[in-house]
Amino acid sequence: MTDKTSNQMWGGRFAAGPDAIMEAINASIGFDQRMAAQDIAGSRAHAAMLAATGILSDSDAAAIREGLLTVLSEIETGHFAFSTALEDIHMNVEARLKEVIGEPAGRLHTARSRNDQVATDFRLWVRDQMDAAMDGITALQRAFLEQAAAGADWVMPGFTHLQTAQPVTWGHHMMAYVEMLGRDHSRFADARRRMNESPLGSAALAGTGFPIDRDMTATALGFDRPTANSLDAVSDRDFALEYLSCASICAMHLSRFAEELVIWSSAQFRFVKMSDKWSTGSSIMPQKRNPDAAELIRAKIGRIFGANVALMMVMKGLPLAYSKDMQEDKEQVFDAADNLMLALAAMTGMVGDMTANRVNLAAAAGAGFSTATDLADWLVRALGLPFREAHHVTGTLVGMAEARGCDLPDLGLEDMQSVHAGITAGVFGVLGVENSVASRMSYGGTAPDQVRAQVARWKERLE
Ligand code: ARG
Repeated sequence: MTDKTSNQMWGGRFAAGPDAIMEAINASIGFDQRMAAQDIAGSRAHAAMLAATGILSDSDAAAIREGLLTVLSEIETGHFAFSTALEDIHMNVEARLKEVIGEPAGRLHTARSRNDQVATDFRLWVRDQMDAAMDGITALQRAFLEQAAAGADWVMPGFTHLQTAQPVTWGHHMMAYVEMLGRDHSRFADARRRMNESPLGSAALAGTGFPIDRDMTATALGFDRPTANSLDAVSDRDFALEYLSCASICAMHLSRFAEELVIWSSAQFRFVKMSDKWSTGSSIMPQKRNPDAAELIRAKIGRIFGANVALMMVMKGLPLAYSKDMQEDKEQVFDAADNLMLALAAMTGMVGDMTANRVNLAAAAGAGFSTATDLADWLVRALGLPFREAHHVTGTLVGMAEARGCDLPDLGLEDMQSVHAGITAGVFGVLGVENSVASRMSYGGTAPDQVRAQVARWKERLE
C-alpha cells in the first residue's frame, strides 16, 4: 500500500490510494487518450443538452463547453500532462477542466456515467475508422481498376491449385480484387449503419432520473437515434467486433493479393516488377529485390484476426452490464485499425506502381496445355461429342503432346485425327490463348470485352 491520498474523482469512501501495481493494471490512459477528441465531443454535446433541459444553467454549460475546447487544444498541441492516477481519458479531461474553469466542471458528470461515456466515445472512434477503411478500400479499388483498364486483353495463366488451368486476362484478375473489395466496403457500410446509435444517456446501466433529452445528444453526435436499452448500450461491444470482423475479412483479401505479388515478383515467375519504392534490398545478396511490403501485408491478417479473437474472448463470459474487462477492447481495435489502414495504403501504392510483364505473362499463359478445355469444348460444339468423351479425347492428345515435348497447337491434323477421326482443321481456331480468352464471353467471364464492361461498371460506381 502506498499512502497516497485517494482518487480525486471517486475516492470519497476510500481512506488510502491504490497500490502502484493496482494503478498500473487499472489505468487505460496510456492508450485511451486516442479517444480524446471523441470524449470531448461527447461531453460538449452532453453539456449542451443538460442546459437545454434545464438540468444545468446556461452559464455553467457555456463555461464547460468553452473549457473543453481549451482542454482539447492542449491535448492536440501536446501540452497536456496525462496522469495515470486519473486512470483514463474521461477523468483526465474532467480533472483538467476543473483546473481550467473551476467549480462548474463538477456539474458535467450529472446524468452520466463513465459507462455510457466510454461506450459513446468508442462508438464514435470506431465509426471514424469504418469511414476511413471505406475510403482506403475505394482508393485501392481505383488502383486495381487502373491496372484492369490498361490490361483488359493481356493474357496470363489462370490457376487452380497453383497449376496452370486456363488462360485469363490480366484485367480479369485485377477486377476479381475490385469485387472482393467492393464487398469489404459494403460490409463496413452495413456495420456502420447498425452501430450508429447513441449510448449516451444510458448512464451507469439503468438510465437516469434526470429529464435528459437523448435525441438531442444523439443528433449532435451524428448518430441516427439513441440506443433503445440502457443495459445493452453500456455492455455490448459487438460494434467493435463487427469492425474487427470486417477488418479481418478485408485484410484476408489483401493478404491473398500480397501472396500473389510475392509469387509473381519471384525470379521463377517474373509476372510483375514491383517499383523500387515498394522493394527492399538484401544486406548480403546484392541482386535481391525483396517484396517486403507485400509480405508484411500478408502477415497483418494475423494480428487483425488475432484482435478479433481476443475481443471475442474478453466478451464471451461477461454478465450484464459493464465490467472492467471491457477496457481491454480498445488496444485490440486500435492496433487492428492502425494496421488495416497501413496495409490498405501500402497495397494501394504497390498496385499503382507495379508493372506487369506482358511478355512473360503471355508466354506462361500458353504453357501447361492451358487451352485443353477449349479443345474439349470444340469437340462438343463442332463434333457433337458428349463432354466426357471429349474430355477423354483431349486427355489423349495432351498425353501425345507431352510425350513429344510440344504444345497442343503444334500437333498436326493427322495426329489429332489418329485420336479422333472427325477432327478438322477448324480446331486450330480455338487453340491459341488469345482465341481462348476471347471466346469466354459469358457474363463475368475473362474475355477482354467482358472485362471492359466490368471496368466501366465499376468506374461509374466509384465516381
Ligand atoms: N476506462 C474505462 C473503460 O475503458 C472507462 C469506464 C470505466 N467505468 C467504470 N465503471 N469503472 O472501460
